[in-house]
Amino acid sequence: MAVSMLTAVLVLILPYALFNIPNIFDNTYCYTGVTTLSLLKPTASCFTVSSSGRFTDVFDLQDKRPSWLSRVIFRDGFVLPGLWDGHGHLIQYGELLHSVNLFGSVSMDDALSNVRQYVGANPDVGTAGDWIRGVGWDQAAFGRMPVARDLEDDIALKGKYIMLDRIDVHCVWVSQAVLNLLQEPIPDVPGGEVIRNPGLGVFCDNAMDMIMKVFSKPDAVKKSKFVSSAMKELNKVGIVGMHGAGATPNDLEMYESLADGEAWSVRVYAMLECGKRNTFCPEAAEHIFRDDGMLYMRSVKLFADGALGSWGSAMLEPYDDHPQSSGSLLINGSDLMSIATAWATEGYQVNIHAIGDLANRLAISALFWALDTICRTTSRSECQEIHRFRLEHAQIIHPDDQQRMFDAGIIPSIQPTHATSDMAYAEDRLGKTRTAEEAYRMKSFLSLNPVLGSDFPVEPPNPFEGIFAAVTRKSPHTGKGKGGGDEGWYLEEALTLGQALEGFTKGPARGAFLDGVAGVIQEDAFADWIVVDMPLEEMRMDDLRAVSVRETWVAGKQVYSG
Ligand SMILES: *[C@@H]1O[C@H](CO)[C@@H](O)[C@H](O)[C@H]1NC(C)=O
Ligand SMILES: [Zn+2]
Repeated sequence: MAVSMLTAVLVLILPYALFNIPNIFDNTYCYTGVTTLSLLKPTASCFTVSSSGRFTDVFDLQDKRPSWLSRVIFRDGFVLPGLWDGHGHLIQYGELLHSVNLFGSVSMDDALSNVRQYVGANPDVGTAGDWIRGVGWDQAAFGRMPVARDLEDDIALKGKYIMLDRIDVHCVWVSQAVLNLLQEPIPDVPGGEVIRNPGLGVFCDNAMDMIMKVFSKPDAVKKSKFVSSAMKELNKVGIVGMHGAGATPNDLEMYESLADGEAWSVRVYAMLECGKRNTFCPEAAEHIFRDDGMLYMRSVKLFADGALGSWGSAMLEPYDDHPQSSGSLLINGSDLMSIATAWATEGYQVNIHAIGDLANRLAISALFWALDTICRTTSRSECQEIHRFRLEHAQIIHPDDQQRMFDAGIIPSIQPTHATSDMAYAEDRLGKTRTAEEAYRMKSFLSLNPVLGSDFPVEPPNPFEGIFAAVTRKSPHTGKGKGGGDEGWYLEEALTLGQALEGFTKGPARGAFLDGVAGVIQEDAFADWIVVDMPLEEMRMDDLRAVSVRETWVAGKQVYSG
């Protein structure tokens, strides 16, 4: 009896022991339902995860029993692939979590009371070595541009070092103590604006450099705190990976040291940004490919123009509500062309920030020039298929240039919540025709495999807000359309739920050369997944913007539990 049991056990175990040892350490998870986004097997009930953090099997329980040496764990809930944000700013988001939140301030009093409250909770900040930071103000809520005096006149804020970013982070509003650090007289700056009316205090685009020069920057310890706080928050909303839209060589060095640690719970696909914007600095950093997929760097971020909110985006024709201005370029077309080409020649994916239709036209020309230079024997679209150049924001694009994007397959990197945040004023800036033909395209660009994201901290990072905005073209904050109406804004550009979900999974995966590896549940892909209460397609549309994530898993490890 004992002998035959032993034989039976040996007969069963031996093949595994000899040929399949790692299986003993594998976990198999079975949930109520699994949406894989994989063409191989769109739905499943179970998947097996290797100790190296990859899916090794995806199957239905009725088709197949899990390997009996794999530990099987049954859990409730509906699984989706882990979500990616295709354009965000990690350190700045962490900084936001450690600073004054001015988003949604409805008046100057409201904004000042937020700053006062922060000072109340953090009484030591505001010194020359530790400035008070904040972000999210919008002069539209103040009825005028803010000035340094507004801060100085507040008894609780007098004398403190304060720097507050505009909602689009293309302008800063600073206090008198900061102004005192600048050399008089304060000059005008090409590609930027020193606001002088109704007084000094706001600096936009290139004029912000003047402030950044005197800014006492957070040290490495503070920055790594920003990163870990940011990652924790991102995991909460289901994010397992993000494209970092601008990491300096110093940031990358810090990322490399942090990526080994427990707190590094979000995959980062970083775009290099030279110490000096729009330059060529290949010696400053090396490409990064980690075997565990937690950090990559093989792309560069360039900037063609500013933002629409501050009339900074570079337009082919003047603004309708500012007829004397058509915004400004941060770099001219020929320089953009040569810098893009230099990076492409070094083997970098080139990603250009372009908002206005002039900026997008020049960016596309620069990318075309780069493609034609690096691939002399293949067609432009074949070359683009390999190098995957991107337009970051791709916000306002002339129909002729949209056609050029289709011809070559240029990837648009789009933030659906920018459309719904800007809908309040976009048509005033652009007029009817430009808005209808050029602005905030999503559905039109579907064949270009758009990468969707939030641009956090400019918008909140919750991908379900982005999905809601893409599907309804309504504000995820109010659930309403333009002016509080029930109608979605230019609904003809809306995506379906499935298309929007792909934009936060497969789109960013392809835009980061990770197709088949990220944003999908299939064999050999990263074992990254999230769990929600019910299938998205069964939710009421209005509940979609407030989906709560129950679990987030990265590389087979649970990083968030709701
Ligand atoms: C572009 O800008 C650079 C300097 O920033 C300048 O040297 C060059 O002449 C400009 N080119 C054109 C065509 O304006
Ligand atoms: Zn950005």
